[in-house]
Amino acid sequence: MNEARGYPAAALERRVEWLTHLGRRFLSKRAQLSIMCGFEHFTALMSRRLLEDPAVFAGADPSMTALWQWHAVEEVEHRAVAFDVHCAAGGTRFERAWTLVLATLVFGLKVIEQQIVLMHVDGCLWSAREWARLLSYLYVRPGVVAADHPRLLRVFLAGVPSFGAIYAVRIRSR
Ligand SMILES: [Fe+2]
Repeated sequence: MNEARGYPAAALERRVEWLTHLGRRFLSKRAQLSIMCGFEHFTALMSRRLLEDPAVFAGADPSMTALWQWHAVEEVEHRAVAFDVHCAAGGTRFERAWTLVLATLVFGLKVIEQQIVLMHVDGCLWSAREWARLLSYLYVRPGVVAADHPRLLRVFLAGVPSFGAIYAVRIRSR
C-alpha cells in the first residue's frame, strides 16, 4: 500500500497515531501494555491461520507468501513477549480482560475503516460482488477469520485464565 498508487497510507497512519496518543494520555503504562497484549492476540490469531492453512495464499506471489509467513512467525512471538512482560509488571487477568474488550473494539473498527478506505480507492466500495468475495474469503473459503471468533470468545468465557496457554500456537511443520 503506498501513496503513489493512490492509497492514503500516511493519513491512515496518522489516525492510528492519534489513537496511540489517546492511549498514552488516558491509560496507565501497565494498561497500555495490557492493551498491547490484546492487539498482539489478534495478530497472533491471524498469523496462526496463515501458518496453518496454505489455502490462504492460493494464487499469491510466492515471494509475498514467504514474506507473510516470516512475518506471521514474528507475530506469534510478539504475543508471548507482551504477555510475559505484562505478567512481570504485575499485570492481572482482569486488566487483560477489560483491555481485550477495548482492543477488540478498536481493532475491529480500524480494520473496517481501513477496508472501506482501500475499497473506495480501488473504486469498488459499492460493489456487492466485491463485498461478497471479501466475506467469502474471510468466512467461507478459505475462511481466514472464521475460526478466530470462537477462539476470541473462548478467551472471554474462560475469564482470560492464562493467555500463555491460550496463546500457545501450534505451528504445523510442512
Ligand atoms: Fe505484533
